[in-house]
Amino acid sequence: MRTDTPVSVKLENYSPYPFEIEHVSMDFSLEPDATRVRTKMQVKRLRPGAFVLDGVGLTLNSIALDGTTLSEAAYQKDEETLTIASVPDAFTLETDVTINPSKNTALSGLYMSAGRFCSQCEATGFRRITYWPDRPDVMSRFHVRIDADKAKYPILLSNGTPGEAGALSDGRHFAEWDDPHPKPSYLFALCAGDYDVWRDTFTTMNGDHVDLGVYVDKGQADRAEWAMESLKAAMVWDEKRFGRAYDLGVFNIVAVRDFNFGAMENKGLNIFNSAYVLAREDSATDADFEAIESIVGHEYFHNWTGNRITCRDWFQLCLKEGLTVFRDQEFSADLRSRPVQRIKDVMRLRARQFAEDAGPLAHPVRPQAYGSIDNLYTATVYEKGAELIRALTVFIGDEAFNRGMQIYFDEYDGTASTIEDFYACFEKASGRDLSQFRRWYAQAGTPEVTVKERWDGDSATLTIDLAQETPVTPKQPTKQPVPIPLRAALLDGKGAHAEAEGWDKGETVIRLEDDRQSVTVQLPAGSKRPLLSINRHFSAPVRIKRALSNTDLLALAAAETDAFNTWDNFQTLAKTEIFRLLDEPQSPPDEALVDALAEAVRANSDDPAFAALLTVLPDIGELFQEREPVDPAGLNVARKRLRQALAEALAADAERLLEAPSPAPFKPNAEQAGIRAQRTAMIGLTGALDTSEAADRLKALFDKAPNMTESLACLRALVTLPGKPRDEAIETFYQRWKDNPLVIDKWFAVQAGQGTAEDARRLSQHPDYDLSNPNRVRSVAAAFSMTNLAGFHAPDGEGHKVIGDIIARVDPLNPALAARLLTSFEQWKKLEPVAQASAKRVLEELRDQGLSKNAMDIVSRALD
Ligand code: TRP
Ligand code: ZN
Repeated sequence: MRTDTPVSVKLENYSPYPFEIEHVSMDFSLEPDATRVRTKMQVKRLRPGAFVLDGVGLTLNSIALDGTTLSEAAYQKDEETLTIASVPDAFTLETDVTINPSKNTALSGLYMSAGRFCSQCEATGFRRITYWPDRPDVMSRFHVRIDADKAKYPILLSNGTPGEAGALSDGRHFAEWDDPHPKPSYLFALCAGDYDVWRDTFTTMNGDHVDLGVYVDKGQADRAEWAMESLKAAMVWDEKRFGRAYDLGVFNIVAVRDFNFGAMENKGLNIFNSAYVLAREDSATDADFEAIESIVGHEYFHNWTGNRITCRDWFQLCLKEGLTVFRDQEFSADLRSRPVQRIKDVMRLRARQFAEDAGPLAHPVRPQAYGSIDNLYTATVYEKGAELIRALTVFIGDEAFNRGMQIYFDEYDGTASTIEDFYACFEKASGRDLSQFRRWYAQAGTPEVTVKERWDGDSATLTIDLAQETPVTPKQPTKQPVPIPLRAALLDGKGAHAEAEGWDKGETVIRLEDDRQSVTVQLPAGSKRPLLSINRHFSAPVRIKRALSNTDLLALAAAETDAFNTWDNFQTLAKTEIFRLLDEPQSPPDEALVDALAEAVRANSDDPAFAALLTVLPDIGELFQEREPVDPAGLNVARKRLRQALAEALAADAERLLEAPSPAPFKPNAEQAGIRAQRTAMIGLTGALDTSEAADRLKALFDKAPNMTESLACLRALVTLPGKPRDEAIETFYQRWKDNPLVIDKWFAVQAGQGTAEDARRLSQHPDYDLSNPNRVRSVAAAFSMTNLAGFHAPDGEGHKVIGDIIARVDPLNPALAARLLTSFEQWKKLEPVAQASAKRVLEELRDQGLSKNAMDIVSRALD
């Protein structure tokens, strides 16, 4: 099925749809192999243009215009569209199609998961359900009627609120759903099957009553409680923080095992990957509980940023995604710890988005063109998109930002909007011209900011020389300066701020808007040289380049008043040290650094979640970006040596902490999770000791671990310590959890994430490995290729081959998943020559054997 590189869609070619469809009525007769979909739409012409509908993989049974069946001569149909050449200015169109959900392995459109019907329409799945102008700027009111076998599918769900329901002949039954809010087709949803339901209610700030339901596999209702608690917390938060209330009488969440992404914000009927719904202390980790809270929040927040105000076209994807990630990050920061949340967000940004921005797949947050829309759901659109909103809050201030958001909600409710519309609200609110700020959306690449200081002791002035440069990225050889808001403070060296003229209590926001800029600060006469803390709380998504010695950095780390920067200073120190150990493999790790780091971990024991983050050294993916060509295996060895030294320095602390009991009874809240994070950090460091005593100790901890968080931490630490304790732990864990697929996903991931290519291949041949389930596919393929770079890029090329083989087998079933896995090759040009050659070979082989359009889009850009 050799396919050519997809033709690209261009932003400049946007033109509004010539028709409006105010109302649509859909009738589903559900059968796994042959579902009949009858659609009746009320169409009105708005402007000149052809009447074209999208439709893919549909069997057309009949089509009628104003009640008259059309002959084949009256319309043209190809693989992707149906065009009616001549239509009146207002008409009713009725279509009748048949689709096959049980053959739908791509998980886009209507498909079966564990015997139940389930839909995924974003971005272009609706055209696999019926003929329709499948674009976000066509919004309609939907009425849905579903009929199905009553015994097999007792629960029938769609968007909006339920209408009539009842029994039919032949053991079938029906249900009707009405969504009063006009919506684009990508927000349509349908679920049908047998579920257990966890129910609750909510009263909005307007006094409206909402019925809430979380639909899960039979027998799993108690595992939905945390998702429900998270949902109610999100509803309250959006009312308090943004004044946004829910707008329907029903809000349902359905959990499905087979899903390409985390979750989907369909109006009133969110569909979730079950990994982000089901949780209980025995089988879910604190990270799972945290992810559930965040993703439930994310999808809920889309109700306003995405659904009430949607996107005009897919180039505006960041309008809903960047903004909604920003909102979910703020939700988590408010519910948990703000600095800890910020550190985690930045870790993710640096690991995924900075890497993407530095490779062949780099693209602007709002690109000018795309080959395949599924491939635009990237770290750049989501994570960098969120950072830009955050940078905007710093640039114009919180007050103007909040006013701008209210203007946005008031003026654009019910519309399909653009980034320009959004920014117009903040220009109005702040009185600033934000056209330069919007360059951030058009330029790919992570800006580098060079910071130099000049101190004049006689006049007590500090001059800060700043310069910015954005690297060249594909198709963007030259870059313009972007406005970079840098939170800054002057530190007195002893944990407090130095006084400075015009700086509020020693703090300010420096707005770097040009290529170069100097800021001079006047301190009181006779002042000592202050220490500069910059990009505090990571106020802008840039790389800071500063020529500071280790001594300077240690002094800065000790004097910091910003928790994010304290952590970041240690990250910088650790990075430098890992590279030094790579270059000088004979020399021991720097004792002063190890001691300072161990001391910082101890000093922060009152904030255990933060202390735990201090023990995490920069991962290989981040180190990757600092050097070219890169030797991931060498880096891994150097990193392990530093980690072992830290483990030795903290060994007594680890032993003491792990002797204390885990908090009981278990609660998933931030406070307990923080204590467990510190415990699991110590478990990890115990593994880093790399001794047989450590393995025995970990096995003992594993055997009596009181929850999944600690059990999995022990298993993770043991996996790298060959021997009997390891083998037994792997086997025991498998036997205990073999009937719980979400836990077995973890079992696969923990091995693939730290093993060799041979381990990955063996796991991919395990009887439980299942190419039709995305979570399971990722548990080996993504865990190995994206979190285990030393294994994946090993010079023998075996890692590349294993992943290439999995991709080749997944692509015919699920192109979106294959394309996602292919992005793991994005760094190949940075590799040392041997690994670089093997990565290239695998990419070329894949390209030559022929791939789906989605996969081809990634391969061709990666090889370009
Ligand atoms: N809109 C979803 C979110 O961010 C993302 C998503 C879910 C998605 N499923 C998808 C995107 C399928 C593309 C294809 O919350
Ligand atoms: Zn989203």
